[in-house]
This record gives sequence, C-alpha cells and structure tokens, in this order.
Amino acid sequence: MTDTRIAFVHARRVWDSRGRPTVEADVLLEGGAVGRAIAPAGASTGSHEAIDLRDGGEAFGGYDVTRAVRNVNEIVGRAVVGMDATDQEALDERLIELDGTRNKSKLGANALLSVSMAAAHAAAAASAQPLFSYLGGSGATLIPLPQIQIFGGGAHAGRRVDIQDFMIMCPAATSFAQALDWTAEVYRTAGKLMAEAGQLAGVADEGGWWPMFATNEQALDMLVRAIERAGFRPGEQVGIALDIAASEFGRNGVYKLALDGTELSTGQMVEMLAGWVSRYPILSIEDPVAEDDLPGLVAFTQAVGDKVQIVGDDLFVTDADRVRDAAEQRGGNCALIKPNQRGTLTETLDACRAAAESGYARIVSARSGETEDITIAHLSVGWNAGQLKVGSFSRSERMAKWNEMLRIEEVLGGKARFAGGSVLGRSAPAAKA
Ligand code: PGA
Ligand code: ZN
Repeated sequence: MTDTRIAFVHARRVWDSRGRPTVEADVLLEGGAVGRAIAPAGASTGSHEAIDLRDGGEAFGGYDVTRAVRNVNEIVGRAVVGMDATDQEALDERLIELDGTRNKSKLGANALLSVSMAAAHAAAAASAQPLFSYLGGSGATLIPLPQIQIFGGGAHAGRRVDIQDFMIMCPAATSFAQALDWTAEVYRTAGKLMAEAGQLAGVADEGGWWPMFATNEQALDMLVRAIERAGFRPGEQVGIALDIAASEFGRNGVYKLALDGTELSTGQMVEMLAGWVSRYPILSIEDPVAEDDLPGLVAFTQAVGDKVQIVGDDLFVTDADRVRDAAEQRGGNCALIKPNQRGTLTETLDACRAAAESGYARIVSARSGETEDITIAHLSVGWNAGQLKVGSFSRSERMAKWNEMLRIEEVLGGKARFAGGSVLGRSAPAAKA
C-alpha cells in the first residue's frame, strides 16, 4: 500500500438528477491515490435528518451549495490534511468535531459526507481494491436483493398519488443480473399497460412511471397486472414493495389521503395497510406511519410484522439510537440506510450495525436527488446489508448503481451469493392477547 495520508482535499459544485447544485469532493493521498464522491439529496426528508446545507436566497431556487463547498475548501480540507485515509473512524470523528452541532448544521452533512466518502474511495484505490472489498474484506460476498421502483408518487410526482414508491422485488431470482432482467420486463410492461389505459403522464423524480390513477389501490392493481402480464407469479417470483412515506401526508395522528379523499387516524391507517398486505402480494412496506408515530409503527408491526418487511426511513433517519429505541419496542423489522441522513460513513455504519444487532434487516438506499456516484452499491456489499434501493429502472443516475452491482457480481464470480428473499425482515409473531 502506498502512503495513505491525506495530501489535499478539494470540493466543487456539480449538478444532480433534478438539475440542482450539489457537492463533489476529491481527496488526494500522499502516495498519489485519488478518491471522489458526490453528496445526494432527498425531497421527502425526515425532520430528524442531518442538515443538507443550502444557501437559500434567489439563485437556483435557494438550493445553491456555495457555503457547503467553501466549508470543505476552507475548513475541512485543511483540518484533515495529514490524517490517514484508512482510519475512517478518526477521520469522521474529526469531521464531527469540526462541525460541532448535533445535526451538522454548521458545515453541512452534504459537505462532510462528500469528504467522508471520497476518503474511503481514495483509501480503497491506494489498496488497489474495489471499495466493497476494501470495506468488507473477503467476507463481502452478499449481493443485495434490489427494490426497484415502477411508479413514482408523493413528493416525487406532483403528489398525483399519495403513496411515494410502488416498487418490485424479485426474491426468486437466482442472481442480481436475473433480478434486473425480470425488473426490465415488468417496468416495460407497466409502461405499456398504463399508456394503453391513458394513465401515463411521464416519468417521476426517480425514473419510475408518473401515473394518473384514480385511487391508490388502482396503482396496486396495475402493478399486479404488470407482474402477471410480464410472465411472473406475483408474490412468489416478483413481489411488491411500497414506500408509503407517510410523514408527507400524516401529522399528529391524522393521515390525509388526497387521492382517495379520506382522512384516517393512525389506527385506520394501520388497518388499511394491513388490508393491503392481506389482499396484495406485498413483501415490504416503508414508513407506514409518520416519522414520530412510533406507537403506530409498533401497532403495525404487531399486526403484520411476521408476514411483511416493515422499514423505517424518516422514522429512523439512519440514526443508531433511533433504531435501538424502535427495536426496544419492536417497531419495524428493517432499517433504511442513507449515508446523507447522518453525514459520515462511520455514523452510517453504526446505524447499520445497530439494526443488525437488533435483528433488523438493512436496505442501503439512494435519495431522490442523485448523481453518477456509485458509492452506495459498494456500501451495500461491503457492509453485508442484503438489500439495495436506488429508485427506478431508467435514467442514468439510477442505472449507474444497478450497473455497478452487475460489475461487482461479475468480479466476485463464484464467490457471489445473491441474497434473494432470505434477507427480508420479519418479526416474531405478535403474542396472543
Ligand atoms: P427522498 O426519497 O430521497 O426524497 O427522501 C427516498 C425515500 O423516501 O426513500
Ligand atoms: Zn422513504
């Protein structure tokens, strides 16, 4: 291994998949190795996430990142020069200290994460290994089961449907490559069926079809039809995964479903979703209730947690403590892992470990605002997460991650183990009252 001390850090403004500014960092090591990473950005963000620092004001709708870029170039860069890029914990500890706030509001999670990830890339390059094996060693062989969006909704598609992500999973596929083959057929078939029915308006933020449905259940019906028409057995070969993103339409225990024209209490929300689980081939449901409705999450988990994976995104915000709190009460059985919800790789890994130690499944996830950066594909394998969520099956900021996973699966060759359905989160059956 060459000299892995950090020689130079440089950030610049680049552009994301929504045409908004974001932060890219380069980390150069003394031995000549270079790493580069770009911070993603959410739209349906949880209020307990680390802060994505934006300039505000007029330019680019207030989304400019000149302050975050400057924070890297004038503060972070200088403070980490000379540190060893292979000591990710010490580096991230330094970033956390430099910021000094609980939610990274001073320097910005976007500024810190781009440096944290770029340093990992540089260290991997110095060791002449792909990032996933640098992170996970020879044990990093589990290829994740993907969750792939077919229709977008919620904050990603003008709130045309209330539910944010209608996705599929292919638990019976025997490889990642085959899961993508199957997804391609379902995605194409869904688009065709929707166009024929006059229900297709374009593509949403994450590349899924932008639907025009009359009810939320119509979306589920269409998804089942698309799976069948593409030639697969629903639930067995190809199942449904939903991200309800309920924080977007639920507050103080009241859930307003605009498309269905209904207002539900937490109890009614749990009942409606449990009904969907019994009537549709659903394998996974994310954020079934709003971010602070832990009692609702617990109730939903008691109702259907033994049948379906229940994922916390806005509910857990990739925070080890929030995952442990939920696990103590048996709320959910899977954690979504988004690096920019915390701002450093070390804290993200902590949340992933807290989930694993609690017996929870893990899904490494992209954001709705993405770029060509493929770091998360490597994290999902290097950290043995088992599942990966990137958005849909179109647009290159999404396909870059899927394609990278094809390469990783190929590089691993005979050592690759495709996770299939074995990694889906399930809770112990609720005790009989
Ligand atoms: P976001 O959406 O990146 O806009 O938060 C993704 C998700 O909710 O999982
Ligand atoms: Zn989500």
